[in-house]
Amino acid sequence: MIGVFDSGIGGLTVVRALRQCLPEYDILYFGDTARTPYGTKSPQTVIQYAIEDAEMLLDRGARILVVGCNTASSVATDALRQRFDVPIFEVISPAVHKAVSHQKGRRVGVIGTRATVNSGVYQDKIRALRPDMEVYAASCPLLVPLVEEGWLKKGETRRIVKKYLHPLKVKQVDMLILGCTHYPLLKEIIQAKIGKRVKIIDSSEELSSSVKDFLLDNTHIASTLKKRGEHQFFVSDVTEHMQKLARKILKSVGKLELIKVTAP
Ligand code: DGL
Repeated sequence: MIGVFDSGIGGLTVVRALRQCLPEYDILYFGDTARTPYGTKSPQTVIQYAIEDAEMLLDRGARILVVGCNTASSVATDALRQRFDVPIFEVISPAVHKAVSHQKGRRVGVIGTRATVNSGVYQDKIRALRPDMEVYAASCPLLVPLVEEGWLKKGETRRIVKKYLHPLKVKQVDMLILGCTHYPLLKEIIQAKIGKRVKIIDSSEELSSSVKDFLLDNTHIASTLKKRGEHQFFVSDVTEHMQKLARKILKSVGKLELIKVTAP
């Protein structure tokens, strides 16, 4: 199975993209809803949570891991790779790859949680590959709670998005990386506020194509994964509101099953 985890239900945007690319593969999802958000926590805490989340998915049969959370991808990927001997995908590199190969313009905007932006991972990776590119990053801490609240089209959300994007608009960015797996749910508003000419890069889409390419190149691993098109969704806390929102993000989501994560 492909195991995907996020701090909450935003990572369902990654499952949605994976399903489009790899409909036949079984997916096991874990959203750490009891401890969300990760974006406001220290790197040490996020690393500890990410290890526990990964352990939980591997115990239940995941054979490859997708870190469906930019915050955990930014700070915990190295720790996860050191600890677990399975292929581990993160959401940062595919988006960076897309940005550096984009033909039009060299000004890149990145939006994400405070932890992601402060980690400097996007900025460093882009500059390492394309020193000629200018990178402008903005943390948008209110967007995750707005998404989790289901305020996807409200006027208040539009105004907050506009305010967060203002500094990037002033810099006239040519592309904008959605560096948080919650943000694809606000894509329309973000596109409208940043301007039509700006290319939006959605890390969940880029990630899915890189998992697909990996499985095509590594058939010995692909052959160990179950392909019944079945998906299971676990969370560490569940409410009716959360269940409804999960369905809004991913229509086919089944019942969110409660599971307790314990330290390995
Ligand atoms: N979805 C997570 C991400 O991609 C962030 C949510 C959080 O702050 O927990 O960074």
